[in-house]
Amino acid sequence: MISKNTIDKVFETARVEEVIGEFVQLKKSGSSFKGLSPFSEERTPSFMVSPVKGIWKDFSTGKGGNTISFLMEHEHYTYPEAIKWLARKYNIEIEETEQTDAQKHQNDERENMFVVSEYAKEYFHNVLLEDNEGKAIGLSYFKERGFTDATIKKFQLGYSLNEWHAFTDEAENKGYAIKYLESTGLTIVKENPKNPSQPRKFDRFKGRVLFPIHSMSGRVLGFGGRILTNDKKAAKYLNSPESDIYHKSKILYGLFHAKQQIAREDNCFLVEGYTDVISFHQAGIENVVASSGTALTPDQIRLVNRLTKNITILFDGDAAGIRASLRGIDLILEQGMNVKVMTFPDGDDPDSFSKKVSPEELKTYLAENSQDFIKFKVSLLLEEAQSDPVKKAGLIREIVTSISKIPDNIQQEVYLQECSRIMDISESVLFSALAQLNSKEDNNASKSGHSQGQPMMAAVKDDKPRVKINEIRKYEFLIIKILLLYGNLEVDFIDLVEDEEKSRPNRKVTKKEEFTNTVSNEIYLSLQDDEIEFTDPVFKDIYFDIIHQMNQKQPVSINQFVNHPDPAISGIVTDVLMDDDKYTLSNWAAKEVIVKPKEKSLSKHVLDTIYNLRRVLIVEKIKEIAEGDWKDEDRLEKMELIMNYTKLKILISDRLYRVV
Ligand code: CTP
Ligand code: MN
Repeated sequence: MISKNTIDKVFETARVEEVIGEFVQLKKSGSSFKGLSPFSEERTPSFMVSPVKGIWKDFSTGKGGNTISFLMEHEHYTYPEAIKWLARKYNIEIEETEQTDAQKHQNDERENMFVVSEYAKEYFHNVLLEDNEGKAIGLSYFKERGFTDATIKKFQLGYSLNEWHAFTDEAENKGYAIKYLESTGLTIVKENPKNPSQPRKFDRFKGRVLFPIHSMSGRVLGFGGRILTNDKKAAKYLNSPESDIYHKSKILYGLFHAKQQIAREDNCFLVEGYTDVISFHQAGIENVVASSGTALTPDQIRLVNRLTKNITILFDGDAAGIRASLRGIDLILEQGMNVKVMTFPDGDDPDSFSKKVSPEELKTYLAENSQDFIKFKVSLLLEEAQSDPVKKAGLIREIVTSISKIPDNIQQEVYLQECSRIMDISESVLFSALAQLNSKEDNNASKSGHSQGQPMMAAVKDDKPRVKINEIRKYEFLIIKILLLYGNLEVDFIDLVEDEEKSRPNRKVTKKEEFTNTVSNEIYLSLQDDEIEFTDPVFKDIYFDIIHQMNQKQPVSINQFVNHPDPAISGIVTDVLMDDDKYTLSNWAAKEVIVKPKEKSLSKHVLDTIYNLRRVLIVEKIKEIAEGDWKDEDRLEKMELIMNYTKLKILISDRLYRVV
């Protein structure tokens, strides 16, 4: 782990405008900077950087945060990768925290494996471009396949001489340890019975052209090597073996070269092979990755999910092959992604097709021929099951299984309707099949507490659940905003409270109450009184942090939140700090200073916000009871509850509209 010390130093040193300036053209505008959003296509700048606050905000997409979160969004770095990138930029030495010897050892081992792999990539690439055999065999092969020099360079393609240990010898001469040549699989080491102290060493990729496989951040993890002969017995492709740095199931070929474009286009094309990826790039389509011929794994899907919710699978080959990969696609649906699929005519694969048509034609083909996955699956299976009722029943089950993987209930319903139409089966049959599946899943998997399998009808019936939640969230947001901006201020509060008159109980009077408190303490006490909990998990985290600071008698520190390691938190805090700026995008410069409201109006603002949150929570509560299960036994109880809540609501609304 990178030490806290290093992280602090990075935050102290990094200037948000300098870092972002490397990726976005920024123009000074008062004490801030403006530019065109790097996350959308736009003509008028809505991207803001505030050096004073150390944050950025993209009003066109709503993204925002600190320097680190910019690198995570834009370069798709992980948190440690972003810290390391900044440390390199600002020449900050990276301190690692106390690691156990075993951890240290493992990190060193992995680091050495990366170094050896990087060297091998350079070596094989040079052999391809400079060596006579490399040029005559490797380079001419790639040229024959239509790859340009630029493409070969971009993907760092290589060639391994057709000799037993040319690479291993060279690497050892250069000082690379056999241990790492072996653990990366570049060299195969075999016992030598004749001379045990001199094991025999072979180059794994002997006589093959090589495709280096990069991690998302561009480090070489391994290689795929294609054979050039027509030897039917030898595998066409040989890949690096599983190792501490190469985990086949967690790698997508081409991701490093595709990530920017995937995020920009908000779609990822998934193909099968190395050559498909490369040919697409050459045709100008860069948002493409390959699963390298195996079934897609959840880890691979997660990699894409970081960049986009949309994936388009380009099948190559025959119906049987397509049929086999259908199940894997349910995994993608499960992660809440939208899946489209596409096939190519005449047994073409993406590589061969892209070479038959012009780049423009390819783009058009891709744009016009993608089909929604579920519909595609229905028509494919329907063909098979045409007039066979047994098969058709199986088909319904299969389709409904796919649909049940979609986390969004409303989307599920849309699909069911669509399928009912295509398959000519009544919606209610499909609904009940789904309900059955869901209840089964509920029983199997209720442990994790996620509500995927909740009864369909109940969830769909309620057509506007979001609206109320958003209103609650709005006031929660305001409370966080108040805490961050004014939490430390001491304010004279004036409030109206209902009280019972001493002499005549039951007779309520309104009394004016005045008291002094810090804003954060007042909010804390009020929310605690009502046992109000935040519904938004990120707000909840921030709130507890603030209250914790307050209880430690520390002032609320905005900086700590802006630079929070959790991008969800720093993002929300950025939203809070930039909230007022969105209305004044044009005269942004004038608004740099956070205007401190006059004390009296602050007092009102704080109390109003708390009352408003109470009010929407009560409305929600009433709705919850009203929509619940009305059994005869507790009817009266429930009506009384509703009445009480309604009274309370009126009281609060009353209070809200009175001017103190
Ligand atoms: N693959 C593999 N091992 C094999 C065959 C295939 O790892 N023995 C993987 C490779 O990643 C390959 C992908 O599956 O890129 C798709 O296989 P295929 O379509 O046969 O290869 P292409 O990439 O199309 O290669 P080419 O165009 O050179 O035939
Ligand atoms: Mn292929």
